[in-house]
Amino acid sequence: MLVALLPGDGIGPEVIAEAVRVLDTLEIGGLVFEEAPVGGAAFKAVGHPLPEATLDLAKRADAILFGAVGDPDCDALERHLRPEQAILGLRAELGLYANLRPAATIPALADASALRADIAGNIDLMIVRELNGDVYFGEKGMRATDAGLRQGYDIMSYDEGEVRRIAKTGFETARARRGRLCSVDKANVLETSQLWRDVVTEISADYPDIELSHLYVDNAAMQLVKDPGQFDTIVTGNLFGDILSDLASMCTGSIGMLPSASLDEGGKGLYEPIHGSAPDIAGQGIANPLATILSAAMMLRYSLGLGDAAARIEKAVEVALAAGLRTADLGGKATTREAGDAVIAAL
Ligand code: IPM
Ligand code: MG
Repeated sequence: MLVALLPGDGIGPEVIAEAVRVLDTLEIGGLVFEEAPVGGAAFKAVGHPLPEATLDLAKRADAILFGAVGDPDCDALERHLRPEQAILGLRAELGLYANLRPAATIPALADASALRADIAGNIDLMIVRELNGDVYFGEKGMRATDAGLRQGYDIMSYDEGEVRRIAKTGFETARARRGRLCSVDKANVLETSQLWRDVVTEISADYPDIELSHLYVDNAAMQLVKDPGQFDTIVTGNLFGDILSDLASMCTGSIGMLPSASLDEGGKGLYEPIHGSAPDIAGQGIANPLATILSAAMMLRYSLGLGDAAARIEKAVEVALAAGLRTADLGGKATTREAGDAVIAAL
């Protein structure tokens, strides 16, 4: 089983290193790692954020463990050379259309949530975010208006096939959980969303056992802060899912805690923390590696068929936190390395 390691920029290499140490501790037979540069690091090394060799490795691998991309040095580059294009390119080239972003209360971290303990205490939700379409991948550009003003534009669209595919993932995910699916859109304003809502409703006929509801995205954001415990599975488009998953992460504790899986139609996946490259703390050894370690656990479960090993990692993270492990984002002083050590000790 070949795992591609794509550490990327900023804190990416630091957090990937700890995830690899945790995986090594499990001594899983046949697991082989191969590393390649991506993002700003790849641009600086070979002049492109997603070099051919990196894309090739990602295609060959059974699964991909990804750190983060984003580098302020690259902000002035043309868009197609910016670090973010690497992750967007991988999602598109590999057809990784289903992004699973779980957020659940960790009892030991009740004090780290941005919400009152009585509100944050019972969160157990999964955001299913569409990852191959929407305004992210529509035509975009800069042009001049008739009056000579600069105008930026990005076209938002979904076709019914794209919506059907992610809706099915949403319903299947809800079925494996508590049987409730909330579809989030902006159908009161956007045609893209009206189609989304129509198609999700049509598909629901195939899932009579799943309780379907719809929310407008602004209301969903409000409900996530007011009563996040009401949600089981949320299915939504690329842009809304990007925003709501950051929001959900702060409800549970820290963005440094949330893993994600991006899956293709065959179950191959890319696994990454939902946080970014955090250039402000990069190189200091103080980043929280738990989101990446938990992403490695998701990789074992979803792409490598090693659910037991995944559960061991998740349990070890819980035990380490209960024993007091706190990195800076959680109000503590543990270093990245110490956090890895604590998980390994718990294993
Ligand atoms: C995420 C990130 C990416 C996104 C960026 C880095 C392109 O914010 O994975 O949530 O917007 O999808
Ligand atoms: Mg994001």
